[in-house]
Amino acid sequence: MEYKDIMHKTPVKHGLINYESTYKNFNWKDINRCFDHFSDNEVNIAHEAIDRHANNGYKNKIALHWEDEDNVKKQYTFSDIKRQSDKLANVLRNLGVEKGDRIFLFLPRVTELYISIIAIAKVGAIAGPMFSAFGPEAVKDRLHDSEAKVLITTPDLNQRVHEIKEELPALKHILLVNAEHNLKQDEISYESETNKASESFKIRWVDPEDDLFILYTSGTTGKPKGVTHVHNDMISHYITTKWALDLREDDVYWCTADPGWVTGTVYGIWGPWLNGISQVVYNGRYDAEKWYSIIEKYKVTVWYTAPTALRMLMKAGDEIIKKYDLSSLRYICSVGEPLNPEVIRWGLKVYNLPIHDNWWQTETGSIMIANYPSLPIKPGSMGKPFPGICAKIINTKGKEVATGKQGLLGLKRGWPSMLRKVWANKKKYNEYFKISGWYTTGDTAYVDDDGYFWFVGRADDVINTAGHRVGPFEVESALVEHKAIAEAGVIGIPDKERSEIIKAFVVLNKGYKPSPKLKKDIQGFIKKRLSAHAYPRKIEFTKDVPKTRSGKIMRRLLKARELGLPTGDLSTLEN
Ligand code: PRX
Repeated sequence: MEYKDIMHKTPVKHGLINYESTYKNFNWKDINRCFDHFSDNEVNIAHEAIDRHANNGYKNKIALHWEDEDNVKKQYTFSDIKRQSDKLANVLRNLGVEKGDRIFLFLPRVTELYISIIAIAKVGAIAGPMFSAFGPEAVKDRLHDSEAKVLITTPDLNQRVHEIKEELPALKHILLVNAEHNLKQDEISYESETNKASESFKIRWVDPEDDLFILYTSGTTGKPKGVTHVHNDMISHYITTKWALDLREDDVYWCTADPGWVTGTVYGIWGPWLNGISQVVYNGRYDAEKWYSIIEKYKVTVWYTAPTALRMLMKAGDEIIKKYDLSSLRYICSVGEPLNPEVIRWGLKVYNLPIHDNWWQTETGSIMIANYPSLPIKPGSMGKPFPGICAKIINTKGKEVATGKQGLLGLKRGWPSMLRKVWANKKKYNEYFKISGWYTTGDTAYVDDDGYFWFVGRADDVINTAGHRVGPFEVESALVEHKAIAEAGVIGIPDKERSEIIKAFVVLNKGYKPSPKLKKDIQGFIKKRLSAHAYPRKIEFTKDVPKTRSGKIMRRLLKARELGLPTGDLSTLEN
Protein backbone atom coordinates (compact mmCIF):
# COMPACT_ATOMS: atom_id res chain seq x y z
CA MET A 1 0.00 0.00 0.00
CA GLU A 2 1.29 3.47 -0.81
CA TYR A 3 1.77 6.12 1.87
CA LYS A 4 -1.03 8.24 0.49
CA ASP A 5 -3.39 5.28 0.85
CA ILE A 6 -2.31 4.80 4.44
CA MET A 7 -2.71 8.54 5.06
CA HIS A 8 -6.21 8.42 3.74
CA LYS A 9 -7.19 5.17 5.37
CA THR A 10 -10.81 4.58 6.27
CA PRO A 11 -13.09 5.96 7.54
CA VAL A 12 -12.18 9.15 5.72
CA LYS A 13 -12.07 9.17 1.96
CA HIS A 14 -11.43 12.22 -0.18
CA GLY A 15 -14.21 14.71 -0.41
CA LEU A 16 -17.62 14.91 1.16
CA ILE A 17 -19.52 12.94 -1.37
CA ASN A 18 -22.91 12.58 0.27
CA TYR A 19 -23.60 15.43 2.66
CA GLU A 20 -26.86 14.16 4.13
CA SER A 21 -25.76 10.64 4.96
CA THR A 22 -22.32 11.76 6.20
CA TYR A 23 -23.95 14.34 8.46
CA LYS A 24 -26.33 11.71 9.82
CA ASN A 25 -23.72 9.03 10.52
CA PHE A 26 -20.79 11.18 11.52
CA ASN A 27 -18.85 10.52 14.73
CA TRP A 28 -15.84 12.64 15.75
CA LYS A 29 -14.20 9.60 17.36
CA ASP A 30 -13.77 7.99 13.94
CA ILE A 31 -11.43 10.81 12.94
CA ASN A 32 -8.90 10.01 15.69
CA ARG A 33 -8.07 6.91 13.72
CA CYS A 34 -6.71 9.03 10.88
CA PHE A 35 -3.75 10.00 13.05
CA ASP A 36 -0.52 8.19 13.64
CA HIS A 37 -0.05 8.70 17.38
CA PHE A 38 -3.35 9.60 19.03
CA SER A 39 -4.24 8.39 22.49
CA ASP A 40 -6.02 9.84 25.49
CA ASN A 41 -2.81 11.16 26.98
CA GLU A 42 -0.22 11.25 24.18
CA VAL A 43 -0.54 13.41 21.13
CA ASN A 44 1.25 16.23 19.42
CA ILE A 45 -0.22 18.06 16.46
CA ALA A 46 3.29 18.80 15.12
CA HIS A 47 3.98 15.08 14.87
CA GLU A 48 0.82 14.58 12.80
CA ALA A 49 1.35 17.68 10.63
CA ILE A 50 5.08 17.30 9.91
CA ASP A 51 7.06 14.48 11.49
CA ARG A 52 4.93 11.56 10.40
CA HIS A 53 5.11 12.74 6.79
CA ALA A 54 8.85 13.42 7.03
CA ASN A 55 9.43 9.97 8.50
CA ASN A 56 7.32 8.28 5.87
CA GLY A 57 6.26 8.55 2.28
CA TYR A 58 6.02 12.34 2.00
CA LYS A 59 9.56 13.13 3.12
CA ASN A 60 10.52 14.60 -0.25
CA LYS A 61 7.15 16.15 -0.93
CA ILE A 62 7.11 19.96 -0.96
CA ALA A 63 5.36 21.22 2.16
CA LEU A 64 5.94 24.91 1.48
CA HIS A 65 6.44 26.98 -1.66
CA TRP A 66 7.38 30.43 -0.41
CA GLU A 67 7.75 33.71 -2.26
CA ASP A 68 7.96 37.35 -1.24
CA GLU A 69 7.33 40.75 -2.82
CA ASP A 70 10.86 40.85 -4.25
CA ASN A 71 10.39 37.50 -6.00
CA VAL A 72 12.72 35.71 -3.59
CA LYS A 73 11.65 32.07 -3.55
CA LYS A 74 12.20 29.18 -1.13
CA GLN A 75 11.02 25.61 -1.04
CA TYR A 76 10.79 23.26 1.92
CA THR A 77 9.97 19.58 1.89
CA PHE A 78 8.28 17.95 4.86
CA SER A 79 11.74 16.68 5.94
CA ASP A 80 13.16 20.21 5.69
CA ILE A 81 10.41 21.54 7.95
CA LYS A 82 10.99 18.67 10.36
CA ARG A 83 14.72 19.34 10.51
CA GLN A 84 14.37 23.10 10.90
CA SER A 85 11.65 22.84 13.53
CA ASP A 86 13.63 20.20 15.47
CA LYS A 87 16.61 22.56 15.56
CA LEU A 88 14.50 25.45 16.78
CA ALA A 89 12.78 23.20 19.31
CA ASN A 90 16.24 22.43 20.72
CA VAL A 91 17.03 26.15 20.90
CA LEU A 92 13.78 26.80 22.76
CA ARG A 93 14.35 23.94 25.15
CA ASN A 94 17.88 25.18 25.86
CA LEU A 95 16.44 28.59 26.66
CA GLY A 96 14.39 26.94 29.37
CA VAL A 97 11.06 26.89 27.53
CA GLU A 98 8.74 24.40 29.15
CA LYS A 99 5.38 22.91 28.40
CA GLY A 100 2.67 25.57 28.71
CA ASP A 101 5.02 28.57 28.27
CA ARG A 102 3.75 31.25 25.91
CA ILE A 103 5.89 32.16 22.93
CA PHE A 104 4.67 35.03 20.82
CA LEU A 105 5.44 35.66 17.17
CA PHE A 106 5.66 39.15 15.77
CA LEU A 107 6.75 38.43 12.22
CA PRO A 108 5.71 38.99 8.64
CA ARG A 109 4.93 35.79 6.72
CA VAL A 110 8.56 34.69 6.62
CA THR A 111 9.37 30.98 6.58
CA GLU A 112 10.67 31.24 10.16
CA LEU A 113 7.13 32.03 11.29
CA TYR A 114 5.83 28.71 9.98
CA ILE A 115 8.79 26.75 11.33
CA SER A 116 8.47 28.46 14.72
CA ILE A 117 4.83 27.52 15.13
CA ILE A 118 5.71 23.88 14.51
CA ALA A 119 8.71 24.03 16.88
CA ILE A 120 6.66 25.65 19.64
CA ALA A 121 4.11 22.83 19.45
CA LYS A 122 6.96 20.29 19.54
CA VAL A 123 8.16 21.53 22.92
CA GLY A 124 4.60 21.61 24.23
CA ALA A 125 4.59 25.40 24.48
CA ILE A 126 1.80 27.72 23.33
CA ALA A 127 2.19 29.89 20.23
CA GLY A 128 0.77 33.40 20.00
CA PRO A 129 0.91 34.63 16.40
CA MET A 130 0.44 38.38 15.89
CA PHE A 131 -0.01 40.54 12.79
CA SER A 132 3.08 42.46 11.82
CA ALA A 133 0.78 45.49 11.34
CA PHE A 134 0.30 45.75 15.10
CA GLY A 135 1.52 48.83 16.92
CA PRO A 136 3.17 48.79 20.37
CA GLU A 137 -0.15 49.02 22.24
CA ALA A 138 -1.62 45.93 20.57
CA VAL A 139 1.62 43.97 21.13
CA LYS A 140 1.81 45.02 24.77
CA ASP A 141 -1.79 43.99 25.47
CA ARG A 142 -1.11 40.49 24.17
CA LEU A 143 2.32 39.87 25.70
CA HIS A 144 1.23 41.30 29.02
CA ASP A 145 -2.02 39.38 29.31
CA SER A 146 -0.45 36.07 28.31
CA GLU A 147 2.78 36.66 30.29
CA ALA A 148 4.74 35.59 27.26
CA LYS A 149 8.25 34.30 28.03
CA VAL A 150 9.77 34.48 24.55
CA LEU A 151 9.12 36.73 21.57
CA ILE A 152 10.27 35.87 18.06
CA THR A 153 10.49 38.92 15.82
CA THR A 154 12.67 40.89 13.39
CA PRO A 155 14.99 43.79 14.27
CA ASP A 156 12.61 46.14 12.45
CA LEU A 157 9.49 45.10 14.31
CA ASN A 158 11.45 44.86 17.53
CA GLN A 159 11.71 48.64 17.54
CA ARG A 160 8.02 48.73 18.42
CA VAL A 161 8.75 46.42 21.34
CA HIS A 162 11.52 48.61 22.82
CA GLU A 163 9.12 51.20 24.13
CA ILE A 164 6.89 48.65 25.92
CA LYS A 165 9.48 46.16 27.16
CA GLU A 166 9.70 47.71 30.62
CA GLU A 167 6.05 46.80 31.12
CA LEU A 168 6.60 43.13 30.28
CA PRO A 169 8.40 41.56 33.23
CA ALA A 170 7.60 37.99 32.13
CA LEU A 171 9.40 38.42 28.79
CA LYS A 172 12.79 36.74 29.15
CA HIS A 173 14.13 36.32 25.62
CA ILE A 174 13.78 37.91 22.21
CA LEU A 175 14.78 35.75 19.26
CA LEU A 176 15.61 37.95 16.29
CA VAL A 177 15.25 36.70 12.74
CA ASN A 178 17.85 38.15 10.34
CA ALA A 179 19.96 39.94 12.93
CA GLU A 180 23.49 38.72 13.26
CA HIS A 181 24.96 41.86 14.84
CA ASN A 182 24.37 44.45 17.55
CA LEU A 183 22.28 42.20 19.74
CA LYS A 184 21.30 43.42 23.18
CA GLN A 185 21.62 41.36 26.33
CA ASP A 186 18.30 39.54 26.15
CA GLU A 187 18.33 39.28 22.35
CA ILE A 188 19.37 36.13 20.53
CA SER A 189 20.04 35.55 16.87
CA TYR A 190 17.58 33.04 15.46
CA GLU A 191 19.99 31.95 12.73
CA SER A 192 23.14 31.52 14.74
CA GLU A 193 21.34 29.56 17.46
CA THR A 194 19.48 27.28 15.08
CA ASN A 195 22.63 26.73 12.99
CA LYS A 196 24.42 25.44 16.09
CA ALA A 197 21.49 23.35 17.36
CA SER A 198 21.17 19.61 17.02
CA GLU A 199 18.86 18.18 14.37
CA SER A 200 17.64 15.53 16.68
CA PHE A 201 14.77 16.38 18.95
CA LYS A 202 12.51 14.13 20.96
CA ILE A 203 9.02 15.52 20.62
CA ARG A 204 7.14 16.33 23.80
CA TRP A 205 3.98 14.24 23.91
CA VAL A 206 1.12 16.14 25.48
CA ASP A 207 -2.45 15.56 26.51
CA PRO A 208 -5.00 16.31 23.76
CA GLU A 209 -6.41 18.96 26.11
CA ASP A 210 -3.08 20.79 26.49
CA ASP A 211 -2.94 24.30 25.06
CA LEU A 212 -1.58 24.83 21.55
CA PHE A 213 -2.16 28.44 20.47
CA ILE A 214 -3.69 31.69 21.64
CA LEU A 215 -5.21 34.23 19.30
CA TYR A 216 -6.45 37.49 20.67
CA THR A 217 -9.73 38.68 19.31
CA SER A 218 -12.12 41.51 20.01
CA GLY A 219 -15.45 41.63 21.72
CA THR A 220 -17.59 44.67 22.44
CA THR A 221 -16.06 45.57 25.77
CA GLY A 222 -12.60 45.45 27.27
CA LYS A 223 -9.25 44.53 25.80
CA PRO A 224 -8.90 41.72 23.23
CA LYS A 225 -9.52 38.24 24.63
CA GLY A 226 -6.95 35.46 24.45
CA VAL A 227 -8.94 32.70 22.78
CA THR A 228 -7.04 29.50 23.60
CA HIS A 229 -7.03 26.29 21.56
CA VAL A 230 -5.63 22.83 22.31
CA HIS A 231 -3.88 19.99 20.46
CA ASN A 232 -7.19 18.16 20.22
CA ASP A 233 -8.22 20.81 17.64
CA MET A 234 -6.34 18.67 15.12
CA ILE A 235 -9.40 16.45 14.73
CA SER A 236 -11.45 19.37 13.43
CA HIS A 237 -8.56 20.93 11.49
CA TYR A 238 -7.88 17.69 9.66
CA ILE A 239 -11.36 16.78 8.59
CA THR A 240 -12.70 20.27 7.81
CA THR A 241 -9.70 20.86 5.56
CA LYS A 242 -10.43 17.66 3.73
CA TRP A 243 -14.16 18.14 3.36
CA ALA A 244 -14.90 21.88 3.43
CA LEU A 245 -11.78 22.93 1.48
CA ASP A 246 -11.87 19.68 -0.48
CA LEU A 247 -8.08 19.21 -0.36
CA ARG A 248 -6.65 16.10 -1.97
CA GLU A 249 -3.26 14.44 -2.29
CA ASP A 250 -1.99 16.29 -5.37
CA ASP A 251 -3.38 19.71 -4.64
CA VAL A 252 -1.32 22.86 -4.48
CA TYR A 253 -3.12 25.00 -1.98
CA TRP A 254 -2.93 28.70 -1.28
CA CYS A 255 -4.48 30.30 1.78
CA THR A 256 -4.01 34.05 1.51
CA ALA A 257 -4.52 34.69 5.24
CA ASP A 258 -1.84 35.73 7.72
CA PRO A 259 -1.35 33.46 10.76
CA GLY A 260 -2.14 36.51 12.93
CA TRP A 261 -5.70 35.69 11.95
CA VAL A 262 -7.19 32.34 12.84
CA THR A 263 -7.67 31.44 9.17
CA GLY A 264 -3.92 31.73 8.60
CA THR A 265 -3.08 29.57 11.62
CA VAL A 266 -5.66 26.84 11.13
CA TYR A 267 -5.93 26.70 7.34
CA GLY A 268 -2.54 28.21 6.49
CA ILE A 269 -0.57 25.77 8.69
CA TRP A 270 -2.30 22.99 10.57
CA GLY A 271 -5.15 21.91 8.29
CA PRO A 272 -3.18 21.51 5.06
CA TRP A 273 -0.11 19.95 6.69
CA LEU A 274 -2.15 17.51 8.75
CA ASN A 275 -3.38 16.36 5.35
CA GLY A 276 0.14 16.25 3.88
CA ILE A 277 -0.66 18.95 1.31
CA SER A 278 1.80 21.23 -0.51
CA GLN A 279 0.96 24.82 0.19
CA VAL A 280 2.00 28.23 -1.06
CA VAL A 281 2.79 31.22 1.13
CA TYR A 282 3.10 34.67 -0.37
CA ASN A 283 4.75 37.14 1.97
CA GLY A 284 3.59 40.44 0.61
CA ARG A 285 0.79 42.89 0.27
CA TYR A 286 -2.26 42.40 -1.87
CA ASP A 287 -1.61 43.11 -5.51
CA ALA A 288 -3.95 41.75 -8.18
CA GLU A 289 -1.26 40.95 -10.74
CA LYS A 290 1.06 39.41 -8.18
CA TRP A 291 -1.73 37.27 -6.83
CA TYR A 292 -2.65 35.95 -10.26
CA SER A 293 1.00 35.33 -11.03
CA ILE A 294 1.25 33.21 -7.86
CA ILE A 295 -1.67 31.06 -8.98
CA GLU A 296 -0.14 30.68 -12.42
CA LYS A 297 3.43 29.99 -11.26
CA TYR A 298 2.65 27.40 -8.61
CA LYS A 299 -0.34 25.98 -10.46
CA VAL A 300 -2.53 26.55 -7.44
CA THR A 301 -5.51 24.22 -7.45
CA VAL A 302 -7.33 25.19 -4.24
CA TRP A 303 -7.51 28.81 -3.15
CA TYR A 304 -8.86 30.03 0.19
CA THR A 305 -9.34 33.78 0.46
CA ALA A 306 -11.71 36.47 1.71
CA PRO A 307 -14.53 38.63 0.35
CA THR A 308 -12.64 41.95 0.56
CA ALA A 309 -9.79 40.49 -1.49
CA LEU A 310 -12.24 39.08 -4.03
CA ARG A 311 -14.02 42.43 -4.27
CA MET A 312 -10.67 44.14 -4.82
CA LEU A 313 -9.84 41.64 -7.56
CA MET A 314 -13.23 42.30 -9.11
CA LYS A 315 -12.45 46.02 -9.09
CA ALA A 316 -9.05 45.37 -10.66
CA GLY A 317 -11.00 44.23 -13.71
CA ASP A 318 -11.40 41.23 -15.98
CA GLU A 319 -8.75 42.25 -18.48
CA ILE A 320 -5.75 41.45 -16.28
CA ILE A 321 -7.14 37.98 -15.64
CA LYS A 322 -6.67 37.24 -19.33
CA LYS A 323 -2.93 37.80 -18.95
CA TYR A 324 -2.57 34.81 -16.63
CA ASP A 325 -3.16 31.12 -16.98
CA LEU A 326 -5.41 30.28 -14.04
CA SER A 327 -6.56 26.96 -15.46
CA SER A 328 -4.98 25.01 -12.57
CA LEU A 329 -7.67 26.32 -10.18
CA ARG A 330 -10.34 23.80 -9.32
CA TYR A 331 -11.83 24.95 -6.01
CA ILE A 332 -12.22 28.40 -4.42
CA CYS A 333 -13.35 29.17 -0.87
CA SER A 334 -13.94 32.36 1.04
CA VAL A 335 -14.40 33.29 4.69
CA GLY A 336 -14.59 36.14 7.14
CA GLU A 337 -17.29 38.46 5.87
CA PRO A 338 -20.53 38.19 3.95
CA LEU A 339 -19.79 37.09 0.39
CA ASN A 340 -22.07 38.98 -1.97
CA PRO A 341 -23.95 37.01 -4.63
CA GLU A 342 -22.54 39.52 -7.13
CA VAL A 343 -18.99 38.31 -6.36
CA ILE A 344 -20.03 34.67 -6.79
CA ARG A 345 -21.57 35.48 -10.17
CA TRP A 346 -18.43 37.33 -11.19
CA GLY A 347 -16.26 34.40 -10.04
CA LEU A 348 -18.28 32.04 -12.20
CA LYS A 349 -17.74 34.30 -15.17
CA VAL A 350 -14.02 34.99 -14.83
CA TYR A 351 -12.64 31.90 -13.05
CA ASN A 352 -15.28 29.59 -14.38
CA LEU A 353 -15.71 28.31 -10.82
CA PRO A 354 -18.15 28.92 -7.99
CA ILE A 355 -16.78 30.49 -4.80
CA HIS A 356 -17.63 28.48 -1.71
CA ASP A 357 -18.40 30.65 1.29
CA ASN A 358 -17.85 29.25 4.74
CA TRP A 359 -18.44 30.57 8.22
CA TRP A 360 -16.53 30.21 11.47
CA GLN A 361 -14.77 32.19 14.18
CA THR A 362 -11.54 32.41 16.16
CA GLU A 363 -13.44 30.73 18.98
CA THR A 364 -14.82 27.83 16.94
CA GLY A 365 -11.30 26.86 15.80
CA SER A 366 -12.48 25.40 12.51
CA ILE A 367 -15.12 25.76 9.80
CA MET A 368 -18.62 25.29 11.23
CA ILE A 369 -20.88 26.07 8.28
CA ALA A 370 -19.85 25.68 4.67
CA ASN A 371 -20.72 25.20 1.05
CA TYR A 372 -19.41 21.80 -0.09
CA PRO A 373 -18.54 20.61 -3.57
CA SER A 374 -21.35 18.09 -3.47
CA LEU A 375 -24.10 20.60 -2.62
CA PRO A 376 -25.59 23.28 -4.85
CA ILE A 377 -24.62 26.83 -3.84
CA LYS A 378 -27.27 29.37 -2.98
CA PRO A 379 -25.40 32.63 -3.60
CA GLY A 380 -25.39 34.71 -0.41
CA SER A 381 -25.79 31.72 1.92
CA MET A 382 -22.99 30.45 4.19
CA GLY A 383 -24.08 26.88 3.47
CA LYS A 384 -24.84 24.02 5.84
CA PRO A 385 -23.36 22.87 9.18
CA PHE A 386 -20.28 20.67 9.02
CA PRO A 387 -20.86 17.02 10.03
CA GLY A 388 -20.67 16.78 13.83
CA ILE A 389 -21.78 20.40 14.24
CA CYS A 390 -25.25 21.18 15.49
CA ALA A 391 -26.02 24.79 14.49
CA LYS A 392 -29.41 26.31 15.20
CA ILE A 393 -31.09 29.68 15.22
CA ILE A 394 -32.17 30.29 18.80
CA ASN A 395 -33.65 32.97 21.02
CA THR A 396 -32.05 34.25 24.23
CA LYS A 397 -33.57 31.34 26.17
CA GLY A 398 -32.02 28.73 23.89
CA LYS A 399 -35.28 27.88 22.17
CA GLU A 400 -35.09 27.23 18.45
CA VAL A 401 -36.89 29.84 16.34
CA ALA A 402 -39.00 29.03 13.29
CA THR A 403 -37.43 28.46 9.87
CA GLY A 404 -36.95 31.76 8.07
CA LYS A 405 -36.96 33.80 11.29
CA GLN A 406 -33.88 35.71 12.38
CA GLY A 407 -32.27 34.86 15.70
CA LEU A 408 -28.99 34.14 17.41
CA LEU A 409 -26.68 31.68 15.73
CA GLY A 410 -25.96 29.04 18.38
CA LEU A 411 -23.79 25.92 18.28
CA LYS A 412 -24.35 22.91 20.57
CA ARG A 413 -21.20 22.94 22.66
CA GLY A 414 -18.56 20.24 22.54
CA TRP A 415 -16.91 19.88 19.09
CA PRO A 416 -13.15 19.10 19.14
CA SER A 417 -11.83 22.58 18.26
CA MET A 418 -14.11 24.66 20.46
CA LEU A 419 -12.15 27.26 22.46
CA ARG A 420 -11.06 25.85 25.81
CA LYS A 421 -10.49 29.09 27.66
CA VAL A 422 -10.10 32.79 27.40
CA TRP A 423 -6.60 33.27 28.75
CA ALA A 424 -6.71 34.36 32.40
CA ASN A 425 -10.34 35.37 32.11
CA LYS A 426 -12.90 32.80 33.16
CA LYS A 427 -15.64 35.41 33.22
CA LYS A 428 -15.23 36.22 29.53
CA TYR A 429 -15.16 32.53 28.71
CA ASN A 430 -18.41 31.93 30.58
CA GLU A 431 -20.09 34.71 28.63
CA TYR A 432 -20.03 32.47 25.56
CA PHE A 433 -22.04 29.81 27.36
CA LYS A 434 -24.73 31.83 29.08
CA ILE A 435 -27.47 29.90 27.30
CA SER A 436 -27.38 26.42 28.77
CA GLY A 437 -25.97 23.80 26.38
CA TRP A 438 -25.10 26.36 23.71
CA TYR A 439 -22.06 28.25 22.56
CA THR A 440 -23.34 31.64 21.38
CA THR A 441 -21.57 33.11 18.42
CA GLY A 442 -22.57 36.78 18.70
CA ASP A 443 -23.91 36.61 15.13
CA THR A 444 -27.50 36.71 13.99
CA ALA A 445 -28.69 34.58 11.10
CA TYR A 446 -31.62 32.58 9.76
CA VAL A 447 -32.03 29.18 8.19
CA ASP A 448 -34.18 28.47 5.12
CA ASP A 449 -36.45 25.54 4.24
CA ASP A 450 -33.55 23.62 2.69
CA GLY A 451 -31.38 23.94 5.81
CA TYR A 452 -29.04 26.63 4.38
CA PHE A 453 -27.81 29.30 6.80
CA TRP A 454 -27.90 33.00 5.93
CA PHE A 455 -25.80 35.57 7.78
CA VAL A 456 -27.64 38.67 9.01
CA GLY A 457 -25.17 40.60 11.20
CA ARG A 458 -23.55 40.87 14.59
CA ALA A 459 -25.72 40.91 17.68
CA ASP A 460 -23.19 43.26 19.31
CA ASP A 461 -21.08 46.30 18.37
CA VAL A 462 -18.09 44.35 17.04
CA ILE A 463 -16.88 45.74 13.71
CA ASN A 464 -15.86 43.57 10.76
CA THR A 465 -13.60 45.58 8.48
CA ALA A 466 -12.07 43.66 5.59
CA GLY A 467 -12.42 40.48 7.70
CA HIS A 468 -10.67 41.98 10.73
CA ARG A 469 -12.64 41.84 13.91
CA VAL A 470 -12.25 45.15 15.70
CA GLY A 471 -13.67 45.99 19.10
CA PRO A 472 -14.93 49.59 19.27
CA PHE A 473 -13.70 49.88 22.84
CA GLU A 474 -10.06 49.31 21.86
CA VAL A 475 -10.21 52.02 19.23
CA GLU A 476 -12.00 54.42 21.58
CA SER A 477 -9.37 53.80 24.27
CA ALA A 478 -6.56 54.45 21.83
CA LEU A 479 -8.28 57.58 20.48
CA VAL A 480 -8.59 59.24 23.88
CA GLU A 481 -4.86 58.83 24.33
CA HIS A 482 -4.38 61.35 21.53
CA LYS A 483 -3.66 64.71 23.10
CA ALA A 484 -6.43 66.48 21.18
CA ILE A 485 -9.21 64.05 22.07
CA ALA A 486 -11.43 64.20 25.15
CA GLU A 487 -14.02 61.56 24.23
CA ALA A 488 -14.62 59.13 21.40
CA GLY A 489 -17.35 56.79 20.17
CA VAL A 490 -16.62 54.24 17.45
CA ILE A 491 -18.94 52.32 15.13
CA GLY A 492 -18.74 50.31 11.91
CA ILE A 493 -20.52 51.72 8.88
CA PRO A 494 -21.32 49.70 5.75
CA ASP A 495 -18.74 49.79 2.96
CA LYS A 496 -19.00 48.20 -0.47
CA GLU A 497 -15.45 46.89 -0.55
CA ARG A 498 -14.52 46.19 3.08
CA SER A 499 -17.90 45.09 4.50
CA GLU A 500 -17.56 47.83 7.11
CA ILE A 501 -15.22 50.71 7.80
CA ILE A 502 -14.52 52.27 11.16
CA LYS A 503 -16.05 55.64 11.91
CA ALA A 504 -15.06 57.62 15.00
CA PHE A 505 -17.01 60.44 16.58
CA VAL A 506 -14.58 62.54 18.57
CA VAL A 507 -14.94 65.36 21.04
CA LEU A 508 -11.89 67.62 21.12
CA ASN A 509 -10.14 68.96 24.18
CA LYS A 510 -10.14 72.69 24.81
CA GLY A 511 -7.72 74.52 22.56
CA TYR A 512 -8.03 72.13 19.59
CA LYS A 513 -9.95 72.89 16.41
CA PRO A 514 -11.30 70.43 13.85
CA SER A 515 -9.23 70.33 10.68
CA PRO A 516 -8.31 67.86 7.91
CA LYS A 517 -4.75 67.94 9.25
CA LEU A 518 -5.89 66.91 12.73
CA LYS A 519 -7.93 64.08 11.20
CA LYS A 520 -4.85 62.77 9.41
CA ASP A 521 -2.81 63.08 12.56
CA ILE A 522 -5.38 61.10 14.57
CA GLN A 523 -5.52 58.40 11.91
CA GLY A 524 -1.73 58.10 11.84
CA PHE A 525 -1.67 57.94 15.63
CA ILE A 526 -4.07 54.96 15.73
CA LYS A 527 -2.31 53.16 12.88
CA LYS A 528 1.01 53.44 14.63
CA ARG A 529 -0.12 52.80 18.15
CA LEU A 530 -2.81 50.16 17.74
CA SER A 531 -2.84 48.64 14.29
CA ALA A 532 -3.05 49.51 10.63
CA HIS A 533 -6.32 47.53 10.45
CA ALA A 534 -8.04 49.39 13.21
CA TYR A 535 -7.75 53.05 12.27
CA PRO A 536 -10.91 55.07 11.62
CA ARG A 537 -11.18 55.81 7.92
CA LYS A 538 -13.88 58.34 8.83
CA ILE A 539 -13.71 60.83 11.67
CA GLU A 540 -16.46 63.22 12.65
CA PHE A 541 -15.79 66.00 15.13
CA THR A 542 -18.73 66.40 17.45
CA LYS A 543 -19.72 68.31 20.60
CA ASP A 544 -20.61 65.23 22.61
CA VAL A 545 -20.91 61.47 22.38
CA PRO A 546 -24.28 60.00 23.49
CA LYS A 547 -23.97 58.02 26.73
CA THR A 548 -26.22 56.07 29.04
CA ARG A 549 -26.76 57.33 32.56
CA SER A 550 -24.20 54.79 33.71
CA GLY A 551 -21.65 56.35 31.33
CA LYS A 552 -21.59 53.74 28.54
CA ILE A 553 -21.25 55.06 25.02
CA MET A 554 -24.49 54.46 23.12
CA ARG A 555 -23.00 53.17 19.89
CA ARG A 556 -26.41 51.93 18.84
CA LEU A 557 -27.61 55.52 18.78
CA LEU A 558 -24.54 56.76 16.90
CA LYS A 559 -25.18 54.09 14.30
CA ALA A 560 -28.90 54.77 14.00
CA ARG A 561 -28.25 58.49 13.50
CA GLU A 562 -25.50 57.79 10.99
CA LEU A 563 -27.63 55.43 8.92
CA GLY A 564 -30.91 57.29 9.34
CA LEU A 565 -32.51 54.36 11.19
CA PRO A 566 -35.05 54.51 14.03
CA THR A 567 -33.21 55.36 17.27
CA GLY A 568 -35.22 52.92 19.45
CA ASP A 569 -35.60 53.21 23.21
CA LEU A 570 -33.63 56.21 24.53
CA SER A 571 -34.82 56.10 28.14
CA THR A 572 -31.30 55.39 29.42
CA LEU A 573 -29.76 58.26 27.45
CA GLU A 574 -28.00 60.72 29.72
CA ASN A 575 -27.47 63.78 27.55
O1 PRX B 1 -19.37 37.93 12.16
C1 PRX B 1 -18.83 36.73 11.65
C2 PRX B 1 -17.78 37.04 10.59
O2 PRX B 1 -16.54 37.01 11.26
C3 PRX B 1 -16.73 36.73 12.64
C4 PRX B 1 -15.59 35.92 13.16
O3 PRX B 1 -14.42 36.64 12.99
P1 PRX B 1 -13.01 35.99 13.32
O4 PRX B 1 -13.04 35.43 14.69
O5 PRX B 1 -12.00 37.01 13.01
O6 PRX B 1 -12.90 34.78 12.36
C5 PRX B 1 -13.14 34.94 11.01
C6 PRX B 1 -12.64 33.80 10.17
C7 PRX B 1 -12.73 32.51 10.65
C8 PRX B 1 -18.04 36.00 12.70
O7 PRX B 1 -18.61 36.07 14.00
N1 PRX B 1 -17.79 35.99 9.55
C9 PRX B 1 -16.97 34.92 9.44
N2 PRX B 1 -17.27 34.21 8.34
C10 PRX B 1 -18.32 34.83 7.75
C11 PRX B 1 -18.65 35.96 8.53
N3 PRX B 1 -19.67 36.76 8.22
C12 PRX B 1 -20.39 36.46 7.12
N4 PRX B 1 -20.13 35.40 6.33
C13 PRX B 1 -19.11 34.56 6.59
N5 PRX B 1 -18.84 33.53 5.80
